[in-house]
Amino acid sequence: MFPLRVSGLRFAPDGRAILDGLDLEVSGEGISVILGPNGAGKTVLLRLLAGLLPPDGGRLDWGGAAQAGGRLAMVFQQPMMLRLSVFTNVEFALRPQMPSAADRRQRTAEVLARVGLAHREKDCARLLSGGERQRLALARAWAMRPRLLLLDEPTAALDPSATEAVERIIREIRTEGAKVLMTTHNLGQATRLADDIVFLTDGRVQEHAPAQRFFAHPQSPAAKAFLQGELPWRIAFER
Ligand SMILES: Nc1ncnc2c1ncn2[C@@H]1O[C@H](COP(=O)(O)OP(=O)(O)OP(=O)(O)O)[C@@H](O)[C@H]1O
Ligand SMILES: [Mg+2]
Repeated sequence: MFPLRVSGLRFAPDGRAILDGLDLEVSGEGISVILGPNGAGKTVLLRLLAGLLPPDGGRLDWGGAAQAGGRLAMVFQQPMMLRLSVFTNVEFALRPQMPSAADRRQRTAEVLARVGLAHREKDCARLLSGGERQRLALARAWAMRPRLLLLDEPTAALDPSATEAVERIIREIRTEGAKVLMTTHNLGQATRLADDIVFLTDGRVQEHAPAQRFFAHPQSPAAKAFLQGELPWRIAFER
């Protein structure tokens, strides 16, 4: 599945190029964080990688294969929950890949304990708070033992302690051998989690560098402006 090589990726559903010949290479280890202003195409990129949107051009090469295979999970900014218990939300997601109900129950109990939701397993998932929902969504993805986990702003709208909890879970998932590719608008979070930064504006990768180097010595004028808080609305809307 790795390295994942994206070349010339284009997404232009109404003739307007949202991804405009995007090139990117992602290794199979660590946490890669995608940064960029609103409307840069971060969510679209994740959805294309997850196979949820059809590209209008370009190529995805998953370590020599055209398909990612089944070992990919994505968590959305506002995860959808079934109107069922916390436990069933995880157990249900495991059905396609784990035929044994006993195995599913065991794995579900395991991941709910890992994210601190074991005591809520009988509650309806729709009644969870935002932070609890995010943890449940991560548990659901984690349960499937993905090789690649795509996370779209996993801590948007969470308080500092919920953010901390989610960051800890993301690190554990990484430690267990999953590659994590995520977006965030929280630069502190990017410095805490990222091994490398993919900086996106206008549907292209402007810069891809080890995190320390990106934050200490951004190369492109756009990345410098972004880090100084000067970029977002101008590049996003003035073209
Ligand atoms: N399915 C779609 N069809 C057409 N246009 C879309 C689609 N999804 C997103 N867009 C457009 O693509 C552009 C990029 O959207 P995207 O959601 O990827 O931005 P983003 O980088 O994730 O921004 P944010 O930081 O605000 O989440 C936006 O102008 C959006 O309106
Ligand atoms: Mg987005």
